[in-house]
Amino acid sequence: MAGKSGLDGIVAADTILSDVDGEAGRLVIRGLPVEVLASREGFEGATARLWDGFVADGLDRARVVAMLGAARIAAFARVGRATSAGAGLEPVPGLRAALATLPEVEGLHPAFVLAGAAPVFLAALLRQNEGQAATAPDPSLATAADLLRMLRGTPASPAEVAALDAYITTVSDHGLNASIFTARVVASTQVGVGPSVVAALAALQGPLHGGAPGPVLDMLDEIGDRANIGPWLEARLVAGERLMGFGHRVYKVRDPRADVLKGVVRTLSRDAGRLAFAEEVEREAIAILARVKPGRRLDTNVEFYTALLLEALGIPRSAFTAIFAVGRVVGWVAHALEQARDGRLIRPLSRYVGPEPAEAA
Ligand code: ACO
Repeated sequence: MAGKSGLDGIVAADTILSDVDGEAGRLVIRGLPVEVLASREGFEGATARLWDGFVADGLDRARVVAMLGAARIAAFARVGRATSAGAGLEPVPGLRAALATLPEVEGLHPAFVLAGAAPVFLAALLRQNEGQAATAPDPSLATAADLLRMLRGTPASPAEVAALDAYITTVSDHGLNASIFTARVVASTQVGVGPSVVAALAALQGPLHGGAPGPVLDMLDEIGDRANIGPWLEARLVAGERLMGFGHRVYKVRDPRADVLKGVVRTLSRDAGRLAFAEEVEREAIAILARVKPGRRLDTNVEFYTALLLEALGIPRSAFTAIFAVGRVVGWVAHALEQARDGRLIRPLSRYVGPEPAEAA
């Protein structure tokens, strides 16, 4: 039945942006494996790669650093309106409301406007929740360094900056997941990139896409100690619950992003015990899932080590998904622009299975 299929296995777009090979556990972002992208090019390099030919021709990392810096300054001029729009909301809806306030900016492509505004508005919203004033951006920095600086009000260490940069690079793009598909559907109406990104952000919130990393930490906390790992996991599965941070629609083996992020968590090494405990939970979870869900091939996904990485950076759990969005916004933009340029209105059919109209009396 199509409604149940979730479009599993259906190719809904041709793209030059990213390729998810679920059998090999391999992610290629515009010609580079994700682990190479994260270690060599960083977020602005990945952005240049994804946007080249869509936002401008011949984009490179240095130009993207400069343009995003300028865009953060432009966004800060509007931060009051944005934080009013997002006041009292959780970080993802707050960011969505804030981004929806953005106007066209003369001389700046909307791609830069959006990707520059996301870290500025998010940092300001999180500080507002703590009763603190927004920190002005430093346009000379790259996104990861400036985001941490704006969040804390003081510069972060080089290791922390490198960790966040690797994270937002790793999640910058990923085939046709729920939020990228949403961006493409909206962009296919030719409405523009802004509404496409705001809509995509609405799709990145539920536990099945984007919303899992906070609950991963809740799971680790609830398990508490080693002796409780097996019993806790079993009990959840018997109760019909899902283990957060495991399973993926496309990956039938380990998500390659999990290893990139695990390596990054090690470099932060604030709490080696936490990582060792998480690794043990991971091992047991994979073994129990294989036993309880035979033939399903459920392995670790990106959210498991995302949770540990963002925790090690001192980011509050409630903001994990919104930080994800700061990285993913450049992928949403690229897909929206590709769809608008090369695609057609996305308009599939549904099969009517409801009641037939009564015979006219
Ligand atoms: N724990 C327990 N069982 C699971 C899990 C899990 N994490 N994932 C899938 N299953 C089971 C389902 O219960 C189902 O079993 P059943 O057929 O016996 O009912 C079977 O595997 C297939 O499940 P589907 O929902 O059809 O698989 P789908 O491909 O749609 O799911 C998803 C992918 C949503 C990621 C799923 O694996 C899941 O819910 N994982 C937990 C939440 C999570 O980690 N989300 C983050 C995803 S990554 C991201 O958002 C960037």
